[in-house]
Amino acid sequence: DIPVRKSHSGLELPAIGFGTYKINGFDGIESIESALRVGYRLIDSAYNYENEGIVGRAIRESGIAREDIQVTSKLPGRHQDYDGARVTIEESVARMGLDYIDLYLIHWPNPSKGKYTDAWRALVDAQKQGIVKHIGVSNFLPGHIDMLIHSTGVAPEVNQIELHPYFQQTAQRAYDKTHGIITEAWSPLGRANQMLKDTTLTAIAKKHGISVVQAILRWHVQIGDVCIPKSTNPERQRANIDLTGFTLDGDDMMKIAALDNPEGRSFAQNPQWYEEF
Ligand code: A2P
Repeated sequence: DIPVRKSHSGLELPAIGFGTYKINGFDGIESIESALRVGYRLIDSAYNYENEGIVGRAIRESGIAREDIQVTSKLPGRHQDYDGARVTIEESVARMGLDYIDLYLIHWPNPSKGKYTDAWRALVDAQKQGIVKHIGVSNFLPGHIDMLIHSTGVAPEVNQIELHPYFQQTAQRAYDKTHGIITEAWSPLGRANQMLKDTTLTAIAKKHGISVVQAILRWHVQIGDVCIPKSTNPERQRANIDLTGFTLDGDDMMKIAALDNPEGRSFAQNPQWYEEF
């Protein structure tokens, strides 16, 4: 079925999870419930998405054993001092109404020098305390991760980054792999914009009798990441997790590799976040 990705410290994540950015309110609860019903077992949330409450509620009321579900949340930049981070993690756990969160990430490397290392110490201690089981980062560059390893000796288990055929992050993925860090892809479909009309991807999808979205998600599976597509539509949720019965061949993979574009981000990050290691 869905392959499993392993970190340097025993974290195992399914290759496809469910993204919840902008999934809020009563409609949001239904979307998360249906994602769990159709088979998603990794649910990605964040303090800043303001949906930890409904994510936790959908998990608690799903009837699925807690240990069969993995839930992620993330620490916002404004709480990246040590004490602020400890409190924020406890708030996330309380808001979800769960005893623990499976995976907690630093959402962005805070631009104020050194702040994310203080936050990282807080995540390390929260993990020792047991309220988070595994810890990682998001939107970190190699220099940021080197800093964490250098200052604490603890490497993240996950780095969640923007990653899709128009923005392939080849160097960052190689770095993550070397360090036993699972690369997780946000916006795996490039926010379903013009990439869904790409002529190369359309031709590949046609050749296999699948949709462009399925071709893109299959590409993620075959490059070895974890991706977290989001859909509020139960049929699309189901289709996005059912990638069996076809495989992209070497020619397809080469053609997709050629779509990589250094300007292909779907989201304009503040470059300052990347400058101060
Ligand atoms: P919808 O919720 O209406 O299905 P990303 O995960 O890259 O941010 O992309 C999310 C967007 O992709 C959402 O707008 C979602 O719309 C759309 N989407 C997700 N799955 C599919 C699919 N199978 N076909 C078409 N659009 C999809």
